[in-house]
Amino acid sequence: MRVGVLTGGGDCPGLNAVIRAVTKSLINHGQCEVLGIADGFEGLMDAQPRVKPLDWDEVSGILHIGGTILGTSNSANPLRDEATLAQVQRNVQALGLDVAVVIGGDGTMSLAHGLRNIGLHCVGVPKTIDNDIASCERSFGFDTAVATVTESLRRIESTAMSHHRVMIVETMGRHAGWLALESGIAGAADIILLPEIDYDLQTVIEACRQREQRQRYTIICIGEGAKESGASLTVRERIEHSPDPVRLGGVGHVLRAQLQPHLQSEVRTTVLGHVQRGGDPTPFDRVLATRFGHHAAQLVMEGRFGHMVTLQDGRIGSVAIADVANTQRTVPLTSDLITMARDIGICLGDRLPG
Ligand code: F6P
Repeated sequence: MRVGVLTGGGDCPGLNAVIRAVTKSLINHGQCEVLGIADGFEGLMDAQPRVKPLDWDEVSGILHIGGTILGTSNSANPLRDEATLAQVQRNVQALGLDVAVVIGGDGTMSLAHGLRNIGLHCVGVPKTIDNDIASCERSFGFDTAVATVTESLRRIESTAMSHHRVMIVETMGRHAGWLALESGIAGAADIILLPEIDYDLQTVIEACRQREQRQRYTIICIGEGAKESGASLTVRERIEHSPDPVRLGGVGHVLRAQLQPHLQSEVRTTVLGHVQRGGDPTPFDRVLATRFGHHAAQLVMEGRFGHMVTLQDGRIGSVAIADVANTQRTVPLTSDLITMARDIGICLGDRLPG
């Protein structure tokens, strides 16, 4: 069997660990040839497909390295028009690809689902620091990102204490608040604002004022998709033709401008940005990514195309890509993490009855 491997969407720590596990498992099987596709689906969209054979040596020594040796793109859209789709189809046929292992987020899974119409079989591996892929309770990369944000919050805290400031730290996460919530809890944030809970400005002001009286500093962890009740999302940019054209970012600055006139303390904002996606994967993510890659190879060898690897109740399994394409897993308001955060006095920005 000739198997393509590609990484699509934003990069994330642990991608190389998946590439390594998929390739080694398939090579060990003995009847598979593995081709690495460059820069996500972009590598299949050019007149000359950009691919390279992946052998044992090629994927050795990369387990612990962040990013992806194959390159990625979060704007390539093979479904953008008929001509592009036809080019992808010609390339798939010319390469003799039996199946492609696509490692990506919900956008990549939607593209993989769409490509079944031109006869490209796919097996999916969920990847994202946002942890927002449906049917998968933990995607690799998330643990590393939580560790990075948590450490940043710790660093911000010492300077916040010294200057008696309100410090706002903005995290990634798009429309899901997992990263802000888990990092905020781990990093002892006083206020955590999530995309799932529109904030009431007066409630946030009151929470800061109370801390001004006692602790004299406040740490606010805010997800980039959070917004004040009735306001719209803070959009950083729009990328034409991208499967996910809207890029969020900057709500931390919006919040600073809203809070400053009402507080005595100075308010400062740090947008962590891509530092959250970079760096080497944690041991947890290396193991999870390896499990995912190994299982993807099993799905390929069993001919179970059209499926994505999952982690549910701690066990590796799979679901139909059709069931996860175009869906996102956000933080349920009934989550025990939400209840616990409230019970230990973390302000979540909403005005509660009483
Ligand atoms: O999907 C992962 C993610 O990191 C989001 O949290 C974030 O909004 C987006 O990627 C940023 O993408 P870009 O690399 O285009 O700025």
